[in-house]
Amino acid sequence: MAARVLAALLATALALALAAGPAPARASNDEGDALYALRQRLSDPNGVLQSWDPTLVNPCTWFHVTCDQASRVVRLDLGNSNVSGSIGPELGRLVNLKYLELYRNNLDGEIPKELGNLKNLISLDLYANKLTGGIPKSLSKLDSLRFMRLNNNKLTGSIPREFAKLSNLKVIDLSNNDLCGTIPVDGPFSTFPLRSFENNSRLNGPELQGLVPYDFGC
Ligand SMILES: *[C@@H]1O[C@H](CO)[C@@H](O)[C@H](O)[C@H]1NC(C)=O
Ligand SMILES: *[C@@H]1O[C@H](CO)[C@@H](O)[C@H](O)[C@H]1NC(C)=O
Repeated sequence: MAARVLAALLATALALALAAGPAPARASNDEGDALYALRQRLSDPNGVLQSWDPTLVNPCTWFHVTCDQASRVVRLDLGNSNVSGSIGPELGRLVNLKYLELYRNNLDGEIPKELGNLKNLISLDLYANKLTGGIPKSLSKLDSLRFMRLNNNKLTGSIPREFAKLSNLKVIDLSNNDLCGTIPVDGPFSTFPLRSFENNSRLNGPELQGLVPYDFGC
């Protein structure tokens, strides 16, 4: 008798343990978490990020976010959105991103080096903000990049020589910053117009052929 009661108790305990199971909470979605971290970092006086609800399964229904059929984030469209604050490292986790459009806002701070992890990025548009600091060398890892527009910011330092490896780059605009040193001439740089580099008072024009590149005064 006692054995049967004990067996019944054990069976009940087992059933309860199975029913509790693993924590059911929202499936973790790293891309949603990264975007939500950006939302918390930014000041958003016009409320353009209001639909960014972290309790949803993924960020694919959030305004200004576009996913592919596998629910991976491929576009972030926050140009002309009047947001301010710093971009932060989290966006480097959106490894499927193709279009990063943050132009014409009041973003400040530095361009995070983590953006170099966005291997699928086609378009990097950060122009017309208040970004400071150097242009990260890590952006030379963006093999798919076709458009890089960082113009009209307050960027300093030199143009990374490694950008000459960006063989898919069709358009670069670094004008209206505070860059120094010389303009690379190799790879895609052989086709870019000088206007892409205008209004950087300390930039010294194209590298002289045959001279070892050296960033004088940078
Ligand atoms: C942008 O936000 C500021 C507040 O930070 C506000 O005064 C201004 O009107 C906004 N601009 C636009 C175009 O909505
Ligand atoms: C450089 O600055 C001048 C004077 O402000 C402006 O007219 C010109 O359009 C600028 N160049 C570029 C490429 O933005």
